[in-house]
Amino acid sequence: MGGTIAGLAANPDQSPSNYKAGELELETLLKKVEGAIPGELKLVSQQLANIDSRDLSEDLLTLLGNTVKASLSQPDVQGIVITHGTDTVEETGFFLSATCGKLAEKLGKRVVVTGAMLPANAPQADGPLNLLDALKWVANPPESCPGGVFAVFAGKVCLARDLSKRHTSAFNAPLMDAPCSPLGLINPSWLSRLKAVEAASGEDLPIPTQQWPWVEILTSHAGARAQALKSLLDLGVEGLILAGTGFGGVHLAWMGALNQAEVKGTALVRASRTGAGVIQGNFVGDGLNCVSSGSLSAPRARIALQLALNAAKADKSLTWQDFFARIAVLPEFG
Ligand code: SIN
Repeated sequence: MGGTIAGLAANPDQSPSNYKAGELELETLLKKVEGAIPGELKLVSQQLANIDSRDLSEDLLTLLGNTVKASLSQPDVQGIVITHGTDTVEETGFFLSATCGKLAEKLGKRVVVTGAMLPANAPQADGPLNLLDALKWVANPPESCPGGVFAVFAGKVCLARDLSKRHTSAFNAPLMDAPCSPLGLINPSWLSRLKAVEAASGEDLPIPTQQWPWVEILTSHAGARAQALKSLLDLGVEGLILAGTGFGGVHLAWMGALNQAEVKGTALVRASRTGAGVIQGNFVGDGLNCVSSGSLSAPRARIALQLALNAAKADKSLTWQDFFARIAVLPEFG
């Protein structure tokens, strides 16, 4: 997909962090790890994109999801490694988990997302080792770990649905907040979480085939005004993630517009801008009829809501809230 793992710095020795993402082809990245690839693995590569992931689009997510599904279904494919920019890997990790996780589980295959914090030509480049570790995780014998969607960074592995970049430069930034374990070790707590998530989610949500539902994230803050919210409603936004303060409280200045949104049928999800913890139910007691994001961050809740709105359009027997609850409001496991 591109990202820093495929990035190049103009002056790598002096300023490795000043670089352009998505410059090298995937074939070139694979050449760097060629000699160390484990066992009998035969690598087949597909360059779907080569972007800075801040420019990730919904069309690209659709392309990626469909490619992952088609590849998983091929009998001779043992697993899939995706090289991706870290900036929006949170969205992609969650998207793939919600749309391909059950298939991967059923087939006992692993999909592994990886990337890098330093460009490919930096002296301390972390990309080659991350890529190699990701390939090793895919190559693990099936009995050592179930199928599913994972992420590998800085010598650790976590569920891809738990990724979120929480630091501008640390090597472990994408999984800093995620329950993870050193590679080679299966941490029983995340294994039980994987099983619980998979059991609760029932089946994969469909990948949108046309334009994704329009959903925006609004962050509540001191001095919040209603104008931005009103403009979005006037323009026809289908859903809003309210990244509120604390337990998801929103500024009083928004309440009138949010009540109108409720009447209009705009899908509302309450998340927290704190970056950690869980929201279940209306703890802030503002009377708003929102769905809670559970443990999902605002970016993940946005993908979840888009997928839920899309699924409810295709299957009228269930509401978007039903679909959202399948993938978002899951119990927490220690
Ligand atoms: C990107 O997300 O494409 C750039 C940043 C990174 O990969 O770390």
